[in-house]
Amino acid sequence: MGKVVVLDHPLIKHKLTFIRDKNTGSKEFRELVKEVSMLMAYEVTRDLSLEEIEIETPLTKMKAEVISGKKLGLVPILRAGLGMVDGMLNLLPAARVGHVGLYRDPKTLKPVEYYCKLPNDIGDRELIVLDPMLATGGSATAAIEFLKERGSNSMKLVCLIAAPEGIEVVQKAHPEVDIYVASIDERLNENAYIVPGLGDAGDRLFGTK
Ligand code: PRP
Ligand code: URA
Repeated sequence: MGKVVVLDHPLIKHKLTFIRDKNTGSKEFRELVKEVSMLMAYEVTRDLSLEEIEIETPLTKMKAEVISGKKLGLVPILRAGLGMVDGMLNLLPAARVGHVGLYRDPKTLKPVEYYCKLPNDIGDRELIVLDPMLATGGSATAAIEFLKERGSNSMKLVCLIAAPEGIEVVQKAHPEVDIYVASIDERLNENAYIVPGLGDAGDRLFGTK
C-alpha cells in the first residue's frame, strides 16, 4: 500500500490557516498556495535518487552528489491544480508539465474529462499529480487512471487538503500511489465539500462564482 504523508511543517500549517480563511482574497490565496506547494515539493522529492560526479572546488577535486534517475513531470488537474504548478516549478525547474482537465459534475459528483496534453515520454518520468482538494477522490482516481492508460507507471499525488473518504478511494483504486497532503480534514458535507476545508479551490484561485 502506498504511504499517506501529512506534511505538517509549521510553515505549511501557518500558511494553510490563511488559505482556509474566507477573508483571504484571490491574490493572497494564489500566493499562499504557491508558497505551500513549494514547501511541499521539498518533502515530496525527498526520495529522489542521487549519483556522484566529480567536481573541482577552488581548493580541490571532490566527488559530490547530483540528482539522477527518472526525470520528473508535473500534472495539474485543471483548473485548481494550476495553482500548485509555479511553486513546484520553483524547486523543480526542469520538470515537464502535462495537463489533465477534469471537473466534478455538480449533480452526479462524477469527474468529467475535457482536456489532456502530456509530455510524450510520460512512461519515462516520475509524475507528480497536483490538485489542492481530494474530496470524494473521484477526480484524482480518474486522473491517475487516465495517466496509467497513457503509459505512466510512476506517480505521486499531492494535495493541500484531503478528506479521509477521498484518501480511501484513491488507495483502493491505486494502492501503489503515495499521497502527500498538508492536512487531512474531518469529513465531507452533503455536497461533497471538505469540512472545514477551504471552500471551492478553483473559484478562490481564479475569483470566479
Ligand atoms: C475540485 C478540485 C478537485 C475536485 C475534488 O475541482 O480541484 O479536482 O473538485 O473533488 P473530488 O475528489 O470529489 O473529485 P472542480 O471539479 O471543482 O473543478 P475546477 O478545479 O475546475 O474548479
Ligand atoms: N472541490 C473543492 O474545490 N473543494 C472541496 O471542498 C471539494 C471539492
